Amino acid sequence: MKAIAYRESLPIEHANALLDLELPEPSATGRDLLVRVQAVSVNPVDTKIRRNSAPAANQAKVLGWDAAGVVEAVGDQVTLFKPGDRVFYAGDITRPGSNAELHLVDERIVGFMPATLDFASAAALPLTSITAWELLFERLGVTPDTEGALLIVGAAGGVGSILTQLARQLTRLTVIGTASRPNTQAWVRGLGAHHVIDHSLPLSEELKRIGVPAVTHVASLTQTEAHYEQLIAALAPQGKLGLIDDPTGPLDMRPLKLKSLSLHWELMFTRSMFETADMAQQGVLLNRVAQLIDAGQLRTTLGENFGAINASNLKRAHALIESGKAQGKLVLEGF
Ligand SMILES: NC(=O)c1ccc[n+]([C@@H]2O[C@H](COP(=O)([O-])OP(=O)(O)OC[C@H]3O[C@@H](n4cnc5c(N)ncnc54)[C@H](OP(=O)(O)O)[C@@H]3O)[C@@H](O)[C@H]2O)c1
Repeated sequence: MKAIAYRESLPIEHANALLDLELPEPSATGRDLLVRVQAVSVNPVDTKIRRNSAPAANQAKVLGWDAAGVVEAVGDQVTLFKPGDRVFYAGDITRPGSNAELHLVDERIVGFMPATLDFASAAALPLTSITAWELLFERLGVTPDTEGALLIVGAAGGVGSILTQLARQLTRLTVIGTASRPNTQAWVRGLGAHHVIDHSLPLSEELKRIGVPAVTHVASLTQTEAHYEQLIAALAPQGKLGLIDDPTGPLDMRPLKLKSLSLHWELMFTRSMFETADMAQQGVLLNRVAQLIDAGQLRTTLGENFGAINASNLKRAHALIESGKAQGKLVLEGF
């Protein structure tokens, strides 16, 4: 089968940063589905692993976690899916990735694709939807009745693009998204944010400008170290700070004490990595997202289609992600 992989950790400009390879086809056992991949999306985690985790000597590592495709075969313990089903999922970071024509994934972390979307539009969604859903409803504990204001830092990115919609559509929170450029600001408004502020300006002044002096919840999605002190200042007493990124250095927890602020980590790979007892919740939430898409309450976050799934197009997508200027999700389709 065709697959895109790497053998050495190299800067994305290097000719061998990603390679077009021919690899043996896997086969499904146990609870695994064998999926014929139709479209994938690229996430910052793909680029972080490519740069920081070199495969063992003579090995090739396949990246890519988001996928949309068709079930080709199922393992002997599979109960939820059958060959021919159209599925979308974000996979498991401990296993080979989805940048391959055929891919294995545990059925418990898979959802049925939204009926109203094509493969590319569906592939944009799973990893970021799981992250945003778990962060908002499970880690920050927001319910449909929660009142207050949510500040989303990096709202035009992959995670922000779906989190903004979930918060606006499914809660009573006032949703404030940050974006620094005219096109990303317009994108965040289009996703339903009540207010858009600029993360390149002092956040306290920006919040004053929109008449929201303090927020009850923060989702710090990127560059947390650059905004950390300002986020603590922006939070109301007993507020909640949610993190998903990889701060470059240690974060001092002591300033959280004065206002009894709580810190909440989200990692969407935790459930699959540790095979937690509630791992199948990710399949459940993907099916819920698909229903909300089909009901017209959420829309795809696809920002740009980079064309066929090959090393050359994937390198362009990795480069854009690494620039920090992605708007919505970057998707590739077909081999
Ligand atoms: N823990 C998890 O489970 C999990 C899951 C998914 C992602 N992540 C991590 O979360 C981070 C965000 O992921 P993503 O997919 O949303 O990234 P992304 O799509 O690459 O984010 C791009 C956005 O970041 C914004 N941005 C750039 N510089 C910024 C700054 N200094 N302050 C605030 N925003 C800035 C940009 O907005 P402007 O162009 O308007 O400046 C751009 O729209 C990454 O580190 C990723 O690895 C973690």
